[in-house]
Order: sequence, then C-alpha cells, then structure tokens
Amino acid sequence: MSKRIEVNDLDVYYGDFKAVEGVTLTVEPRSVTAFIGPSGCGKSTFLRTLNRMHEVIPGARVDGEVLIDGSNLYGPGVDPVLVRRQVGMVFQRPNPFPTMSIRENVLAGVRLNNRKMAKSEADDLVEKSLQGANLWNEVKDRLDRPGSGLSGGQQQRLCIARAIAVSPDVLLMDEPCSALDPISTLAIEDLIEQLKNDYTIVIVTHNMQQASRVSDRTAFFNIAGTGKPGKLIEFDDTDVIFSNPKVQATEDYVSGKFG
Ligand SMILES: Nc1ncnc2c1ncn2[C@@H]1O[C@H](COP(=O)(O)OP(=O)(O)OP(=O)(O)O)[C@@H](O)[C@H]1O
Ligand SMILES: [Mg+2]
Repeated sequence: MSKRIEVNDLDVYYGDFKAVEGVTLTVEPRSVTAFIGPSGCGKSTFLRTLNRMHEVIPGARVDGEVLIDGSNLYGPGVDPVLVRRQVGMVFQRPNPFPTMSIRENVLAGVRLNNRKMAKSEADDLVEKSLQGANLWNEVKDRLDRPGSGLSGGQQQRLCIARAIAVSPDVLLMDEPCSALDPISTLAIEDLIEQLKNDYTIVIVTHNMQQASRVSDRTAFFNIAGTGKPGKLIEFDDTDVIFSNPKVQATEDYVSGKFG
C-alpha cells in the first residue's frame, strides 16, 4: 500500500504568480514527513500538488514532476480522480458531511468512486476504517447519527476514517490538529504513529513539538519576502532539523527567532 513520493524540480503557480519554486524531495514509504515554515511560504500549496488538488483552482498549474512509485502524477492521460483516490487528504478543519450519518460519512469517498457494495461488505469497511482511525469504540453504537454530532477531535478522526476507507497509498494532512484541543491532538498523533505502518504520511504543522513528536523527516520551507516564491530550504531527519540544522534560517525558525 504505502508508496514512495519523488518530487523533481517542482514550480507551482497561481496564474502568473509563482507560489513555490524548485522543490526536489523524496518521501519514503511507511514514514511521516512534516512540512514546516512561516505562513504564506507555500506549504499547503505544495501539499495540494501531491494529489492534484492544486489544479482545481482556475489558472493554477505546476511545472516539474511528482512521481508516486515511479509514475508521474502529471503524465499525459493520468486521471486526477484516480490520483486523489491513491493520495488521500485530510484538511485543517474537520469537514464531515453534516447531514450524513457517521456510517455514510465513512463510505462517502467509496460511494463517490461508484463502487457497488453489499451491505455486509459496507459494514465491514465502516468498522475497519473506524477502527483504523481509532474511533470505532466511541461511535459504534451511534453509526446512524449525524457526523456533525461528534466532538471536533472525533470529527477529525471521522475524516481520517473517510480518507482511509478508499485504501489510499498516501495520506496528506494539512494542519489536521490546529482546530483541536490538546487531548484530541494527542489522539490524532497516536493515530498517525499507527497509520505510518500502512501509509506514507505527509503532515503540515505549525506546531514544532508536534513535528518533532510525529515525524521521521522534516522539510523546512521559507519565503524571501511578499510576492516571492516559497522554497524548500532544508530537508533532513527530524532530529537533525531540530537539533543540528545546517542552514541558519532553519535554526532561527525552529528556535522561534522568527515566523
Ligand atoms: N487560491 C489561491 N489563489 C492565489 N494565490 C493563492 C491561493 N492560495 C494561496 N495563494 C498564495 O500562495 C502563497 C502560499 O500560500 P499557502 O496557503 O500555500 O501558504 P502556507 O505555507 O500553507 O501558509 P499557512 O501556514 O498560513 O497555511 C501565498 O502567497 C498565498 O497568498
Ligand atoms: Mg497552509
């Protein structure tokens, strides 16, 4: 399931504005990679290029390559819908479908992919996905209640269950804990630790402790000034980025001197 992501010299544009420039990096399977850096440096923009969500914005495009286990996501004839099934995404704010039941929320992505399923198969998938998202015990007696009736942390785990229900290879998470309390945050971090056994995980976070707790590798992005493109400054083992970075700007950022 878990796959390697290789990015080669990627530039990312919104119309004429180059938001991210020249990113080259490799994300190993069964690992967690954190993206850190000041607001506006292009972390979310870059993350969305990894499952072709960037191009849904009019005028948005990329230059360069993103390979998943060697095949280019941006190659001719590649279907972005299939890409998004392979590379799932969890957003900053939990976004369950409010009127749908917990059960239907878990199945939403699978239904979108038009798969016909027997009820027993759907039941199994709901249980397995909720188990995988560490939510099953809390919701198993109320699967037919609306997803919006859950706490913020539970909703975020529901969104993770929805993302893993389609059996992706990669999970992208854009600040998945920023709307959560510390207890829910720790629950999600524990979950990430478990999920990395099966998935390649990339997480954007502004929380330095979180990056150092959950990630194996950390990428520091920075921006030289307003209107300039964001760049990847340093990418290394998380321990190195936080204790012994090679670039002064990384040191300044992780020690809280700016950003
Ligand atoms: N839809 C869009 N259209 C035009 N420009 C955009 C769009 N989304 C983001 N940008 C610009 O791209 C740059 C990078 O934004 P992005 O949201 O990727 O930064 P970020 O690092 O995720 O910031 P934050 O930490 O605040 O979430 C910014 O200059 C932003 O204004
Ligand atoms: Mg962002």
